[in-house]
Amino acid sequence: MRAAVLTAPDRPLEIVDNLQVESPRPGEVLVRVLHSGICHSDLTVIDAGHGVPVVLGHEAAGEIADVGAGVEHLRVGDKVVLAPLAPCGECGACARHAGTECAQALAFVHHLRPDGTSPFSLGGDLVHRGLGVGAFAEYTVVPASGAVKVPDDTPLDIACVIGCAVQTGVGAALNTAEVRAGSSVLVLGAGGVGQAVVQGARIAGAAHVIVSEPVEERRTHALAMGATAAVDPTKTDLREVVMDLTGGAGVDYAFEAAGSGRLVQTGIELTGVGGTIVMVGAPPIEDAVTIDAAVIFMTMGKRILSSLLGGCWPERDIPRLIGYWREGRLDLGGLVSRRLELAEVNEGIRLLRETDGVRTVVDVAPTP
Ligand SMILES: NC(=O)c1ccc[n+]([C@@H]2O[C@H](COP(=O)([O-])OP(=O)(O)OC[C@H]3O[C@@H](n4cnc5c(N)ncnc54)[C@H](O)[C@@H]3O)[C@@H](O)[C@H]2O)c1
Ligand SMILES: [Zn+2]
Ligand SMILES: [Zn+2]
Repeated sequence: MRAAVLTAPDRPLEIVDNLQVESPRPGEVLVRVLHSGICHSDLTVIDAGHGVPVVLGHEAAGEIADVGAGVEHLRVGDKVVLAPLAPCGECGACARHAGTECAQALAFVHHLRPDGTSPFSLGGDLVHRGLGVGAFAEYTVVPASGAVKVPDDTPLDIACVIGCAVQTGVGAALNTAEVRAGSSVLVLGAGGVGQAVVQGARIAGAAHVIVSEPVEERRTHALAMGATAAVDPTKTDLREVVMDLTGGAGVDYAFEAAGSGRLVQTGIELTGVGGTIVMVGAPPIEDAVTIDAAVIFMTMGKRILSSLLGGCWPERDIPRLIGYWREGRLDLGGLVSRRLELAEVNEGIRLLRETDGVRTVVDVAPTP
């Protein structure tokens, strides 16, 4: 089948016609991938080249093409949104619906099944399944818990962004931070993930949603998504704006959604007493955060939280997010600025690198 494969760090993805995919094992499903967004985490893998060769694309939707033994709740033809982090459903963490603490689910970071295998191969050699999904391929095999059935009339070309950006951003606001109505929120970085944090904060009823983002198009976009103020941090003193808007108190919540350790520090500085800083972006491994422990934590009672895939439990949260979209409370279509064919995937990666648009969706196997 057709797929885009990263074969070495910092290279264009290669379009191949002979990628092979295994039949689903017990508990797995074969999915015909229809659409996949391109996320900054794909770019991070491209730049670092960890786990090549790899099929990237982890923000996807499609339809069930086959089910493995023991899978009873999904049938061929069901429409599904795919979740990178697929909980095993059996461990202690899963019993608490803490899928991001499930050791099996966390294998997604190695682009392999928990047992070290991958459903993909090329000429007999293993090809990794990028971030648990591997959606830049016409078919992929994923755990059944990572394929969540959605109503037949769901427009998958926009619903695919739920898979990563929306689960991550809205989940960070609603699940991780549990943003309170009437509170003040600062979002640092307004890519697909930051725009979804803005929407999550709005759904939670935040009174102030301040966005800091150097790219003008993305600031304008954030205002349309529900931000109440948008600042260019390269031209305006962000601290001044935040203090002005919060009566000198600082915000209740700051979300780092750009992937920078330095911005985590900005979040710590601009939250007020009892404030919450949520690390959503994935800073480079060598990035550090320096904090004044005693003042920040003991006197000011701040907390720093990390948020992986928005702490979402796919079976619970993906239908909930579709529900918000149906009620008109969540804008999915507005997150998608461009549509490309699979053969044009490298153009989509260039757009992401240049922060052009918000999310580009790749039509992997467009419906005729
Ligand atoms: N926690 C998770 O589970 C999870 C999931 C998906 C993505 N991520 C990470 O989230 C981050 C954002 O992903 P994305 O796809 O939205 O990326 P993106 O590249 O589309 O957006 C990042 C944005 O940050 C902005 N930015 C850069 N420097 C800034 C600064 N100093 N101040 C304010 N804004 C700044 C950029 O202009 C850009 O608009 C990445 O690090 C990605 O790897 C994490
Ligand atoms: Zn992602
Ligand atoms: Zn588990």
